[in-house]
Amino acid sequence: MRLPKVTLRELTLDDVEDRYRWCLDKEVTKHLNMPQKVPPFSREETKRWIEMCIERTNGYVQKAITTDDDTHIGWIDVKNIDYLNKHAELGIAIGDKQYWGKGYGVSAMKEMITFAFNELDLNKIWLRVEIDNERAIASYKRFGYREEGILREDRLRDGQFVDRIRMSMLKSEFYY
Ligand SMILES: CC(C)(COP(=O)(O)OP(=O)(O)OC[C@H]1O[C@@H](n2cnc3c(N)ncnc32)[C@H](O)[C@@H]1OP(=O)(O)O)[C@@H](O)C(=O)NCCC(=O)NCCS
Repeated sequence: MRLPKVTLRELTLDDVEDRYRWCLDKEVTKHLNMPQKVPPFSREETKRWIEMCIERTNGYVQKAITTDDDTHIGWIDVKNIDYLNKHAELGIAIGDKQYWGKGYGVSAMKEMITFAFNELDLNKIWLRVEIDNERAIASYKRFGYREEGILREDRLRDGQFVDRIRMSMLKSEFYY
């Protein structure tokens, strides 16, 4: 697959409206670790979250994903950053579903992991994905993540415990 070009830029308060809209979409949020509220967040809560990301007060390095023509399509982050052992957890969502399955996820991960290995000086990026999130698992395998194991009943989703797969990529395995 030829990868589409994406840019990761810092979040701004202009991103609140898109984020709020995407968070109302259950297909987008089903597999995201979010509270089961409808709407998942109010506009005000979304704004506060984005402000915390901008100010770097919530432990997340979260960026906006934009396309070649500057369309805002989603977000990507690293969190649980362990500088001692040089690893962090990655999270991603393409909020605009028109862009699913076209390589944008892989392209954004490539940019984020390059940043994490080179700028944050990390050695490993890991993630947790729900066992029934087939689209994400396909994308992560395509990207080259290796499976570390099953985290049993790791997510409480709609009153049901769901297993998650832990996957990771080492700096020495990153070939993009
Ligand atoms: C998961 C997500 C980030 C993946 O991004 P994406 O841009 O849709 O995925 P990509 O197009 O980069 O995926 C690349 C690979 O996955 C494959 N793929 C994409 N959608 C698929 C599907 N529905 N079923 C099977 N394979 C699929 C692609 O064919 C491609 O593989 P290929 O190059 O071998 O053909 C995105 O779908 C998303 O935001 N989902 C909702 C939020 C979410 O679940 N986030 C992850 C939480 S862990």
